[in-house]
Amino acid sequence: MKNNFIIALDGPAASGKSTTAKLLAKKLGYIYIDTGAMYRACALSSLNKQISLDNLNLLNKMLNEIDILIKQTNQGNKIFLDGEDVSEKIREENISLLSSKIASIPEVRKKMVALQQKMGANGAVVMDGRDIGTVVFPNADFKFFIVASYSVRAKRRWQELQNKGINSDLKKIEEELKWRDKNDSERTCSPLVKAKDAYEIDTTNLSINEQVEMILKIINKER
Ligand code: CDP
Repeated sequence: MKNNFIIALDGPAASGKSTTAKLLAKKLGYIYIDTGAMYRACALSSLNKQISLDNLNLLNKMLNEIDILIKQTNQGNKIFLDGEDVSEKIREENISLLSSKIASIPEVRKKMVALQQKMGANGAVVMDGRDIGTVVFPNADFKFFIVASYSVRAKRRWQELQNKGINSDLKKIEEELKWRDKNDSERTCSPLVKAKDAYEIDTTNLSINEQVEMILKIINKER
């Protein structure tokens, strides 16, 4: 029985992809790769270096030198940018918006997609993002498209921030998610779109365990 599948999880912002992907990878003994964290790291790098997103020369220079590392640890994935652990910093709301902007630049995507293809080449991987089933691994063994209503997604993101001790405004979060979805879906380069052969999972009324079990059932049925 084959057990080194490539599993792609795509979907809009805060739809529950990362939580599901993390648990799924754990249950299958696979590695988990959060590609959103890579675009977030690019955004942080441009901010640190004060590079304007329309300065393609400087952006290309940054991309040539950038060192992004995803480390699997007992406490989950840690993301390092040029040697620094930026796992917390990249989750700030200004980075969410900037990551969506930087992710629409073809040069940035080209570099990140190449890195992601290298990271997943041996299989036994759960990768989440926006274009995994369409561009990064169009031949992935399993593709899932995770969706949920705006109000539930905004509430989940609000709760996530609350758990970290960050107070935020629910309405503002919902607006930010809408803006990001629109920007991610309307960009010309690798827009957020459901792959034709992806299973759609609506997590609006599902608990984390339920959504993981639903996906596992589909995988187990076919392997
Ligand atoms: O966790 P959340 O759903 O808020 O976002 P994320 O997965 O961390 O992704 C942050 C941003 O990176 C998204 O809004 C997308 O613009 C971009 N992204 C992308 O373009 N392609 C991917 N494969 C993953 C993320």
